[in-house]
Amino acid sequence: MNMKLQRAGRNDPCPCGSGLKYKKCCLGKETAGRVDLKQLYFKKYQIRLKGPEDIAAIQKAGRLALDILDRVEAMIRPGIATDEINTLVDALTSAAGGVSAPLNYRGYPKSVCVSVNEVICHGIPGARVLNDGDIVNVDVTPILNGYYADCNKTFFVGTPGADARKIVTVSRECLRLGMAAVRPGNTVGDIGWAIQQYAENQGCSVVREFVGHGVGFDFHEAPQIPHYGRKRQGVVLVPGMVFTIEPMINLGRKELRVLGDQWTAVTADGSLSAQFEQTLLVTPSGFESLTPFD
Ligand code: MF3
Ligand code: CO
Ligand code: CO
Repeated sequence: MNMKLQRAGRNDPCPCGSGLKYKKCCLGKETAGRVDLKQLYFKKYQIRLKGPEDIAAIQKAGRLALDILDRVEAMIRPGIATDEINTLVDALTSAAGGVSAPLNYRGYPKSVCVSVNEVICHGIPGARVLNDGDIVNVDVTPILNGYYADCNKTFFVGTPGADARKIVTVSRECLRLGMAAVRPGNTVGDIGWAIQQYAENQGCSVVREFVGHGVGFDFHEAPQIPHYGRKRQGVVLVPGMVFTIEPMINLGRKELRVLGDQWTAVTADGSLSAQFEQTLLVTPSGFESLTPFD
């Protein structure tokens, strides 16, 4: 990938990732060495940029993930157990020739994460029954032909109350605003800043312990994408990067605790938490979602 593809302004951070201003670094020098971003980003950050074939394959996995989420949404109603969602995700993934990435990942026992109400993430499907007024996040990550796509949505069960509406609306908007900050020349910090700014202005809080991540060749790759941060800080985004944004937003305080099962993360104050996640590709002009919804 040639640096000339970047559209950094003179005073923007240099696309080479040096942290210097573009004009103080590579501006005008691009033709001299045809800097290989793929090598540079791997050496400097362990970030594996994706090529056209990789992207097409991740997109296929992404389409499967979205189809699965649609089928899950259609089954959600008061009275079902969260394990029934696991059964459906497992069946649909296998039927498509895929594998569920969560199953046996670092000892995780199920094929999908199902997180109800105060559960922030990594809820393990089981006997818990969904009740009218609950919110439930379903996070699916199929592996198809060796490629990973990762996305999640939070659904209403029956009729939502005011708190449920609020946290779901705010977390969906957080993802949208994070995505809007994805373009070459912007930084990882710009994404986190956009999310944190909005969430906190709404009186909500941003979970710190879990972050977005590079994805595609593996479940969790470099870089980490915090959902909080400062403008102009962190890695400079370049075309070919594929990563998730997946803000976990709490109605109350940001602190969490992990239950004795070593996975289930819940809000320390018992408040509702919601999340939406997409897998995004940085393009020369901005971004493209490989798991597009909304
Ligand atoms: N899908 C989650 C994410 O968005 C990770 C779940 S790890 C698991 O990164 F082991 F709980 F599945
Ligand atoms: Co993820
Ligand atoms: Co996920």
